[in-house]
Amino acid sequence: MEVVICSSAEQIGAHVADVYAEVLRGDDPVIGLATGSSPLVAYGELIRRHREDGLSFAHATAFLLDEYAGLARSHPESYHAVIRRELVDHVDIDPARVHSPDGEAHDLAEECRRYDAAIEAVGGVDVQLLGIGTDGHIGFNEPMSSLSSRTRPKTLTQQTREDNARFFDSIDDVPHHVLTQGLGTIRTAHHLLLVATGAGKADAVAAAVEGPLAARCPASILQLHPHATVFVDEAAASGL
Ligand code: GLP
Repeated sequence: MEVVICSSAEQIGAHVADVYAEVLRGDDPVIGLATGSSPLVAYGELIRRHREDGLSFAHATAFLLDEYAGLARSHPESYHAVIRRELVDHVDIDPARVHSPDGEAHDLAEECRRYDAAIEAVGGVDVQLLGIGTDGHIGFNEPMSSLSSRTRPKTLTQQTREDNARFFDSIDDVPHHVLTQGLGTIRTAHHLLLVATGAGKADAVAAAVEGPLAARCPASILQLHPHATVFVDEAAASGL
């Protein structure tokens, strides 16, 4: 695992955009997308490079990490809607090739199996961007998630619902259930990029990078991965 301590969120965004740009210039690029505030600077930089430098997403296929269960795709806080607003609507990717688990599917377990199979069918994700929750979760794999789990329905912890309440009118509106790529699924991506900024992430980053490989800190699976890069600012690195 490579840990890169950056001086600003903008520098992290530029590094992430460099990696994505290289993948996008290859044949049949498959990019992994994440929601949350951490990836936003990188998406802003990718949009800028699309507009100013002609970086093209025209041949890309994208897979989102996770989705709320029971929230309509038209809801502004569904991850399907969020990723459109933050990236898809601003670049030349074909929206039909931007995949996310369907949180409204009749049979959620079957939907998760279908999603994993769709990722496998394209040969896996070339580069997967990851934020990290304050409890060390990635995607929506909460602490004690199986290290080999595949995409499946999960129940959110109270901590994560509180962390995400800022996107909803009240915490009561935050869904209890989600669909998320499993830790085993995430590990099939060829390159994992984890980004974190701010002192609030310092403990989670320290546990992920220097703690034991353990289900207690789902992000510690990066230690198992042959090609994982962690981009952090000074504050998020302060526990290292
Ligand atoms: C959510 C998402 C995660 C994300 C986390 C941290 O729980 N499911 O993918 O990493 O939030 O979000 P933020 O970057 O806003 O701190």
